[in-house]
Amino acid sequence: MSTTTHARQLVDEARELFASCHGASELENAKARYLGKSGAITALMKDLARLPAEQKREQGAEVNLAKQAIEQALQARRDALAEAELRQRLAEEAIDVTLDGRGQRRGGLHPVVRSWMRIESLFRSMGFEVAEGPEIEDDWTNFTALNSPQDHPARSMQDTFYVDVEDERGQPLLLRTHTSPMQVRHARAHVQAFAGSPDMPDIRVIAPGRTYRVDSDATHSPMFHQFEGLWIGRAVSMADLKGLYTGFLHGFFERDDIELRFRPSYFPFTEPSAEIDMRFDSGPLRGRWLEISGAGQVHPTVVRNFGLDPEEFMGFAFGSGIERLTMLRYGIGDLRQFYGSDLRFLEQFNAA
Ligand code: PHE
Repeated sequence: MSTTTHARQLVDEARELFASCHGASELENAKARYLGKSGAITALMKDLARLPAEQKREQGAEVNLAKQAIEQALQARRDALAEAELRQRLAEEAIDVTLDGRGQRRGGLHPVVRSWMRIESLFRSMGFEVAEGPEIEDDWTNFTALNSPQDHPARSMQDTFYVDVEDERGQPLLLRTHTSPMQVRHARAHVQAFAGSPDMPDIRVIAPGRTYRVDSDATHSPMFHQFEGLWIGRAVSMADLKGLYTGFLHGFFERDDIELRFRPSYFPFTEPSAEIDMRFDSGPLRGRWLEISGAGQVHPTVVRNFGLDPEEFMGFAFGSGIERLTMLRYGIGDLRQFYGSDLRFLEQFNAA
């Protein structure tokens, strides 16, 4: 076969082979078969060297043409592959700008948080400070300082979650079972700040926050919210509590047809102790006494633990459930709905 025929055949063959390549590396391998160091065209070039001058010129021109044709075919195939790849990516990564957007939904405050905020602003308006304290509490502050020494039967009134560590003084740590330890923390800080000064102002504080008990049913959740109230001064009585709490309830429920009663009860840290019951004079709950808060005159032992002389200082404390008040305000029957994370339930409060 003449060199010329051979060269033309090689061009046809290369075109066909390139066309069958579907990826860049496959194509580069195919290229090497013709133009590489031991490629067919390269071999033809080497053979030319052995020919006499005249034939060398003629056949050399043919081989060169073949080489150029193969290079062209190669470049054309490269371009075609790149184009195909681009087209495929565009199709795959296409964005349909006509689709609906995801939008930004507006969040809302949890109903318990709404109540919490209302409670704070109502008590602030009545001259109270707002204090917050730790949810992991020590045994002394949660119980002992509140007149429930170790082995006191009153401790079993509140089923406690203990934490597996002790504090630096070796006493047990626990999840606070009520907000009452904030009476102790706040009062002691207040007394210390005024260091026995005769013009120490009254202690007037509420302390809202999370509390924990081993308890779970339609009206109890292992985590729930309370707010503690404390008013200690030289002439503070349970009569002041009745006036204050009535005012709070009128504000909280935004209605005046609310009656209050104090029903005798027992707490180790108050004496006398009471449950505060309320009833509406109209509406679906009309006439039913509803228990909403524990309360009482602060026990002399507790006043002493505040760092004050119970002969000189007295006052009252109360501890109310925020979930309970929220359920009454909105007519919610099952406390577990607050913590079920069901948006259909939670979103109802966003407009309020
Ligand atoms: N700490 C009591 C409870 O959680 C409530 C309470 C607070 C009672 C303050 C009297 C005074 O049940």
